[in-house]
Amino acid sequence: MSALPPTVDDREIWDTWLSMFKLPILNTALAVGLFPAISDRGLTTDDLAAELKVDARALAMHLAALCAMGYVEKRLGTWRATSLARTWFHPEGQGNWSHFFDAMDRNEHLRGRLLESLRTGKRPESGTDRRPAGWEDGTMPQEVAENIARFMQAHSQAPALGAARMPVWGEVEHLMDVGCGSGVYGIEIARAHPHLTVTLMDLKEVAHEAGKYVARAGVGERVGTASVNMFTEEWPSGPDAHFFSNVFHDWSDATCLDLARRSFAALPSGGRIFLNEILMHDDYTGPYHAAAFSLLMLTGTLGKQYSLAEFAAILEAAGFTEVAAQRTGGGYYSLVSARKP
Ligand SMILES: C[S@@+](CC[C@H](N)C(=O)[O-])C[C@H]1O[C@@H](n2cnc3c(N)ncnc32)[C@H](O)[C@@H]1O
Repeated sequence: MSALPPTVDDREIWDTWLSMFKLPILNTALAVGLFPAISDRGLTTDDLAAELKVDARALAMHLAALCAMGYVEKRLGTWRATSLARTWFHPEGQGNWSHFFDAMDRNEHLRGRLLESLRTGKRPESGTDRRPAGWEDGTMPQEVAENIARFMQAHSQAPALGAARMPVWGEVEHLMDVGCGSGVYGIEIARAHPHLTVTLMDLKEVAHEAGKYVARAGVGERVGTASVNMFTEEWPSGPDAHFFSNVFHDWSDATCLDLARRSFAALPSGGRIFLNEILMHDDYTGPYHAAAFSLLMLTGTLGKQYSLAEFAAILEAAGFTEVAAQRTGGGYYSLVSARKP
């Protein structure tokens, strides 16, 4: 056995897989004529979307990624192409790389999906990865749940170790990990805080898979599972805190508000809600890893990566107060928290 135990920092791994978006993002910008439109004047996201005839919500993600890559800049709320874009990607430029990039980009699949979702504002309905593994139907074959748990275990191991280090769990008695996937967050938080009781909640088939990870981790005395459809069924009472990791990012603003309201209703007064997410900058100027991850959400789910300002608006609309956030040290993740008065 020569495998090493996981650590809190897997950012290099994330940088590697998120780098696959760079060429298609740039080629999508070229396909819609983004740089010439803001070469000689600044435009807001909405005005630029109207000019290019694309969806403003999707465009905001592309601009954030392009900004982090150095091709556009935002000043006093308006976007302009940087000297880098005007030098090397302007159709009238002497050193125009556009045709070269077009020829070098072999990822037709991703490129097509990015362009379609930018134009329509919707997840592309064609292709095999049309939907995120069936959970939008509220039920799935057991082998699909097994795959979700395995996929999410790898994706979430390092950030779970980071989240588990947060001292705030010392103030919680019973934590419910809502949409738990493999249960890696609840398991790691319970391991690090021996006083805690944890309920791992997910759809029936996924909760069943999480139970296997609990047994493997040997924390079954304090960590249980609950099969609950978070949109249609009553939430268990008892937990004084709800934890959602990578759950809000799967859904629209309206659905996130619905989830926040359901959490608020199920929590006791003084109870806490926690959202573990990769956050966009509040002004949507990046960072690249959040914007690229957001484009994955935009083309594969109904959601996106949110900023703290957006989460604050959603949580406060549901009645929560004391919204705050801190980077956990687990990969690129932050822990957003708020309290029911
Ligand atoms: C992106 S995964 C996040 C898993 C885990 N929290 C993590 O970060 O590793 C989203 C999870 O939400 C769950 N989910 C989706 N719809 C649900 C519903 N209606 N009720 C309960 N869980 C749901 C999925 O089954 C999946 O496990």
